[in-house]
Parts: sequence; C-alpha cells; structure tokens
Amino acid sequence: MAAPKTTVWHLDPHTKAKHDLLKFYLGGWFPVLSSYNGRIVFLDGFAGPGRYDSGEPGSPLIALDTLLTHSYFSNMKCEFLFFFCEAKKDRFESLSQQVAGYKEAHQPWPENVKIQLVHSEFSDTITSLVEHLRSQKRRLAPTFAFVDPFGFSGLPMSLLADLLSFNSCELFVNYMVDHVNRFATAGNVDHHLEALFGTAEYKNVGQDPSRSRQQFLHDLYERQLTDVCKFTYVQSFAMINKTGHIGYYLFHGTRDVKGVELMKNAMWKVDPGGGYQFSDRLAGQDVLFTESDVNTEPLRQAILDRYKGKRISIAALEQFTLIHTPYRKTHLRKPVLTPLEKAGVIRVERPGKSGFPDGTWVTFPS
Ligand SMILES: C[S@@+](CC[C@H](N)C(=O)[O-])C[C@H]1O[C@@H](n2cnc3c(N)ncnc32)[C@H](O)[C@@H]1O
Repeated sequence: MAAPKTTVWHLDPHTKAKHDLLKFYLGGWFPVLSSYNGRIVFLDGFAGPGRYDSGEPGSPLIALDTLLTHSYFSNMKCEFLFFFCEAKKDRFESLSQQVAGYKEAHQPWPENVKIQLVHSEFSDTITSLVEHLRSQKRRLAPTFAFVDPFGFSGLPMSLLADLLSFNSCELFVNYMVDHVNRFATAGNVDHHLEALFGTAEYKNVGQDPSRSRQQFLHDLYERQLTDVCKFTYVQSFAMINKTGHIGYYLFHGTRDVKGVELMKNAMWKVDPGGGYQFSDRLAGQDVLFTESDVNTEPLRQAILDRYKGKRISIAALEQFTLIHTPYRKTHLRKPVLTPLEKAGVIRVERPGKSGFPDGTWVTFPS
C-alpha cells in the first residue's frame, strides 16, 4: 500500500491476515522460547500508531495481547521485553498513548513484561543496539524481529545482517515486491534498492526469460537473506490480492527447525478472508493456504521426483515436507502416502500393522 499521510489509517483485509499470522506464530513462539530462556524479545521495527482508524489494534498491541491472554502465561517465568520503534512523531505519540491505555486496562501489570518505546528510525535503533551489545560483549536475548515498512527504504540488508548475527534472532519481514518491481529499473532510487538487497544484481530484473520479474526479485531477496544474514531456513509466502496479483511477500528467517514448523502452522491456520490468499509454489504449481480444500498433488509429485528409486525413513520424509515444501507434516501421511500405498506405488515396511509410525521405511519406484 502507498504510505498514508494521516496518523492512523484504515485496516485492509491483507493487514488483518498479516496480524492473524503474527498472533498465531507468537502464540506458539512465546511458550516454546520462554521455557528455556531467561529473557526473550519481541522487536517491532516499524511499529505504527498502535491502532487503526476503527480502533483495531496494531502489531504492538497484538503482540502484547497474545502474551497476556495466553492460557499458559502464568507459567511463563522468563522476562519479556517488547521493543517498539516508530520514526514518525505523531504516530509515535499515538503509539505511546495506546500502549499506556493498554497497560492501564491490564493492572496489575505483570512484573516480567517490560516495554520500551523508541522514537527513532529503525536503522538508527538497530545500529545503536548492536554497537551497545558489542561494546559490552553481550549477546542479544532470543529475538523475534517484525519488520513491516510501507516501502523499501530504511531497510538495508547489512543492518539486518548485523542484527541477525546474534544467533538466536529470527526475522519476519514484509517485502514489498510490487514497489521494488516498479522502481527496480527506474534509476532514481538505486541507493535504497542496493541497500535493500546488499547487491546491485536487482538491476538484472527482466533479463531472465525463465522467471517473471517478481519471481526474480523474490529469489534474489531470498538468496541474500540466506547468504548475508546466514539463516538456515528462509520461507516466504506470497500475499495474493483479489485480482490474483502478488502484493508482497512475507519472508520468515530462522535457524531453528521448530520456527519453520510454527510459522507453517500459523500460515495454514490463517484464513485471510476478503479475497486475499497466501500462496507458495512447489513442483511448478501454486499451493494455496486454505485448509478446507488442500490440494496435496504438488507434494505427492515433489516426493515422487525427489525419492525416485530410494528407500527412505518416515522421519526424513517429514523433514523434507517441512523444510522444502509449503506443506505441514500432517499433509504427508494420510493425504499422500496412504493413497500411494493403496495404489501399489510405494512399498512400506512398518513396525506395527498400520499407519506410518516412527521407524517406518518407504521404498519409491524408480
Ligand atoms: C506498515 S506501517 C506499520 C504497521 C504496524 N506494523 C502494524 O502492523 O500495525 C509502517 C510504520 O513504520 C513507520 N516508519 C516509516 N519509516 C520508518 C523508519 N525508517 N523507521 C521506523 N519506522 C518507520 C511509519 O510511520 C509507519 O507507522
């Protein structure tokens, strides 16, 4: 969307979907991380004014509320630090008021939940945070960084790499591919684009006949997140609008396979509504995140291609499904493997009489 001039603005259906996703993800992330860390951080780098024009909560209040209303909250003993950064003065003031109102409505405020509001540019905030930690020779506590700008300026890859050089930090970034595509060959904002990608290769957009411009820009950003930020796992999801057009990609980077699983579960849980959908591609087909009508054909095809002539454990098949496809583990056994076995396509050696329990091996045709 184009950046609004007003302090607050209208909540679009796709933003609502993004918020649901954040809520579902944090609902899983808070209990997991808090169970083995003394402190965890939620960092909202482009925090916004706190509420939308009809009073709907923005991402900072959503994150706080996900924690405070969590059924497991009273058992979470670690310290939670919420770090909200907003550059625009009127929005920062609005955010401060909204956060104060939220705290007032939730008294007595839990001692282990701390909030820090920062009126500053994302890049300045991260630069001083990283410098401070390095000078003190301290590590950053496990951090979920939500990075949700309107466009692509003020979001250099080198800055993300600095922040993410702390091992336990993960990233959820809104990558405005539509804007990037529009400006990629215009020549007037090259310094922003070069900073965004950490390379000038984006200028080659449109020169690869095998990929659309959007796909090229997607692949380049994904590669840079993997290579420069050194993420083990980078997943992305396209947000498709009513006209079937990709508005933006949501990229999630983590070094923990549990993070991949949590994000994937969240994606499949969200019903974007309003005609918006998430999608990913596998085996040349779009995979739409609609749990009511899951087409597992791309997963079936990908597994048959990948494991042609091989004997493979159920654990490895699950790992492949989780890490290399848009599907969840639950899409593997009943929807894909059972029909393949019934049709005599695969041979199954299992410890028990039925199903695909741990210890099962599957042989694929060559
Ligand atoms: C898309 S909105 C964020 C919405 C919010 N994350 C939510 O979901 O409710 C982007 C916000 O970032 C702010 N902003 C723009 N440039 C910024 C920068 N360089 N650093 C920090 N905030 C910035 C804008 O004023 C705006 O409020």
